[in-house]
Amino acid sequence: MKNFPRLLGFKRGPLHICSVLFMILNFLLQGESSNFSENFGILWGKDQFKLSNDGQTAHLTLDRASGSGFSSRNEYLFGSFNMRIKLIAGNSAGIVTAYYLSSATSAHDEIDFEFLGNLPRKGYHLQTNVFATGVGNREQRIRLWFDPSADFHNYSIVWNQNQIVFSVDSVPIRVFKNNEGVGVPYLKNQPMKIISTLWNGEDWATDGGRVKVDWSKAPFVASYQAFEVDGCVASASSESCTGHWWDQSLFSGLSRDQLKKLRWVKRKYMFYDYCKDKSGRFSTPPPECAINP
Ligand SMILES: *[C@@H]1O[C@H](CO)[C@@H](O)[C@H](O)[C@H]1NC(C)=O
Ligand SMILES: *[C@@H]1O[C@H](CO)[C@@H](O)[C@H](O)[C@H]1NC(C)=O
Repeated sequence: MKNFPRLLGFKRGPLHICSVLFMILNFLLQGESSNFSENFGILWGKDQFKLSNDGQTAHLTLDRASGSGFSSRNEYLFGSFNMRIKLIAGNSAGIVTAYYLSSATSAHDEIDFEFLGNLPRKGYHLQTNVFATGVGNREQRIRLWFDPSADFHNYSIVWNQNQIVFSVDSVPIRVFKNNEGVGVPYLKNQPMKIISTLWNGEDWATDGGRVKVDWSKAPFVASYQAFEVDGCVASASSESCTGHWWDQSLFSGLSRDQLKKLRWVKRKYMFYDYCKDKSGRFSTPPPECAINP
């Protein structure tokens, strides 16, 4: 199962081929090689942040003094957001590498990838979550089907009016649908920045907080590439963020092939889903649980 085709693997006729070509063209026109500084800046921990000379690879370090983080210069309302990340190798227990979109508002919207470090050979756990107008509690956790510290992999979010798709190397691992129809708030009014941070989360990240950071292994380093951004930049003067490629009907749902991959992930790698939490966390599961794929 390691050899899923690149890109999105659409198989349904000429419209889909056109769209894929369009995406490729889009990608090429945008320039494959935006350097870090064009779209991003350091958020905190500047002594723990390093950029390669060509500006194409960023390294975040966690040591006893601090972690580090960076964020996009712009805020975006909808789009396709990809980051290539190579996680901390070896003992990463207690450490959280977060890659997310977030609005800096009080009732905030947020779309999260959180990589929860682990003891050697136990494997990272990838937690995803969605906050809509300040309410989260929508955690899912999966194991990855490869070692995310051995090489860079693509972690992406395609966010439009209809759905938010989280993917790992083009394999969808989660879909959050627009379920306003059943009263679930959707993320569509608050522009968000792209943020990544590396920090000590030993209180909760590994085995429920039982496994702590082993500082004798510090410094811990996570690396990033692919700083181009294909999103609608939100600013007061801009016209509304509609009419982009991600607004095409093709992207309002998953293709059959994507759905198949999503089911494969859920069946083989998902070990926690808030929708199926039997611990009594929710007296009734949230309404979207009956509807999401
Ligand atoms: C990054 O891109 C900007 C704008 O194109 C350019 O001014 C700058 O020199 C580049 N930095 C590196 C390290 O290549
Ligand atoms: C990640 O995406 C880039 C650009 O789309 C592609 O060249 C690369 O092969 C992808 N890597 C993986 C591991 O899928």
